[in-house]
Amino acid sequence: MKRLILLPLAVLGLSSQALPQNKLVVNADQGKETIDRHIYGHFSEHLGRCIYGGYWVGEDSPIPNTRGIRNDVVQALRNIQIPNLRWPGGCFADEYHWRDGVGPRSQRPKMVNTHWGGVTEDNSFGTHEFLDLCEQLGCEPYITGNVGSGSVEEMSKWVEYITFDGESPMSNLRKQNGREAPWKVKFWGVGNESWGCGGNMTAEFYADQYRRYATFCRSYGDNRLYKIACGPNDADYRWTETLMKNVGNRMNGLSLHYYTVPKTWGDKGSATQFDEAEYFTTIQKTLFMDELLAKHSTIMDRYDPQKRVGIITDEWGTWYNVEPETNPGFLYQQNTLRDAIVAAVNLNIFNAHCDRVKMANLAQTVNVLQAVILTDKEKMLLTPTYWAYYLYKVHQDATLLPISLKSNKYELNGKAMDAVSVSASRNAAGKIHITLVNIDPNKAQAIEAELRGVAAQKISGKILTSAKISDYNSFGNPNAVSVKDFKDAKLSKGILSISLPAKSVLMLEVE
Ligand code: AHR
Repeated sequence: MKRLILLPLAVLGLSSQALPQNKLVVNADQGKETIDRHIYGHFSEHLGRCIYGGYWVGEDSPIPNTRGIRNDVVQALRNIQIPNLRWPGGCFADEYHWRDGVGPRSQRPKMVNTHWGGVTEDNSFGTHEFLDLCEQLGCEPYITGNVGSGSVEEMSKWVEYITFDGESPMSNLRKQNGREAPWKVKFWGVGNESWGCGGNMTAEFYADQYRRYATFCRSYGDNRLYKIACGPNDADYRWTETLMKNVGNRMNGLSLHYYTVPKTWGDKGSATQFDEAEYFTTIQKTLFMDELLAKHSTIMDRYDPQKRVGIITDEWGTWYNVEPETNPGFLYQQNTLRDAIVAAVNLNIFNAHCDRVKMANLAQTVNVLQAVILTDKEKMLLTPTYWAYYLYKVHQDATLLPISLKSNKYELNGKAMDAVSVSASRNAAGKIHITLVNIDPNKAQAIEAELRGVAAQKISGKILTSAKISDYNSFGNPNAVSVKDFKDAKLSKGILSISLPAKSVLMLEVE
């Protein structure tokens, strides 16, 4: 506390009246659930400048690339240990015919990307390019097959083309197209948003379709498919109930889509111009993810008490109005410190539900929606959301530690929410990581954390914050918001005293 008094109160965002202390208990010697690294996954669709320009520039581009894929983007994603990448959609998946995207590029047929701007898709980025991208990233592919406008045979043959190791029409075609050995693909989605852009189906109809399509998606050799059914649109609990009843253990995962839209779908709000009331609503809507996961899990528990079927939150993130002067069908939006707070709060929520949530994929990696990377021709920048992932990568495959938290409130216009959000884990080497978010954009938080069951010796940390909640990285100022070393945590007799600045995301490492 002494150190707090020495610092100017305004710098800390503290009012002259002392705030009550936030109390955190971390049970460092407990915990039984693993935080699946796939919770830190991503999603990239043939949409706007995500694939084209974002990853794919072609072999002849002056932008440094490996077999057509930009090196800077690959390196940045490796630095956050991207565990998986979902592709080719999204809505695009249900109008994608994979055979158009293999073979010599010059001979690949073109198509209209009807969902996203009506642009011509030349199919130059297809199966081989995507799986090469995943190999360069060192991540697992997650492919979504076409149920809406494709056939059972088409999906079945795609699996055979990619994964069959032996003599077959599809594996021969793969070899003819330059890839001798099969790839390993575990995560396989059977349709996307089949309740909407993927075919406007009823839950009952889709459940039957899933059973049909999934039957013919074979696990060849030692490639074991983890089949993911199209799950509910946010709070559609009936969809979950129907799928659990009619499909049950025939699926390994059930997807969930939920976007944080600050205002309405008609006017979603600006990515960079927002007042505190809009910020408050954004976080409130983000916190709804916790309720969604709890309620869908409760339904699933009735049919699957052993939790064999995972929730796969394969589309989530902020969705704003597109940046002015950009193609409305390209969903290009800037990304501020607000987005990093949204990401960090969501990741804490996913960690807390890791007994059921086995994967989550932020929409959509590069240049689309809540991107971690933005590009402008040869330039690339890392968004505040990127830096949240950078801080949180420590939780991948670590053991979730039980915590209890008594938090101050962040209040605005008579409404309140907890100011602090926390998650803690212990990795294989025994290190403890605590990620904390101070949601309050105005007040710092003094946190007293008791670390039970561990003799902590050393503490270090990294923090993400900025002067304004709407600060962002631009191509003119690409490092305006980024991570810095954190020194305001003090360890004494197993008690950690933390001074968490307003609107910040912090990662502490305890040894
Ligand atoms: O991520 C953008 C779109 O949002 C996806 O294509 C679709 O699945 C969802 O509606």
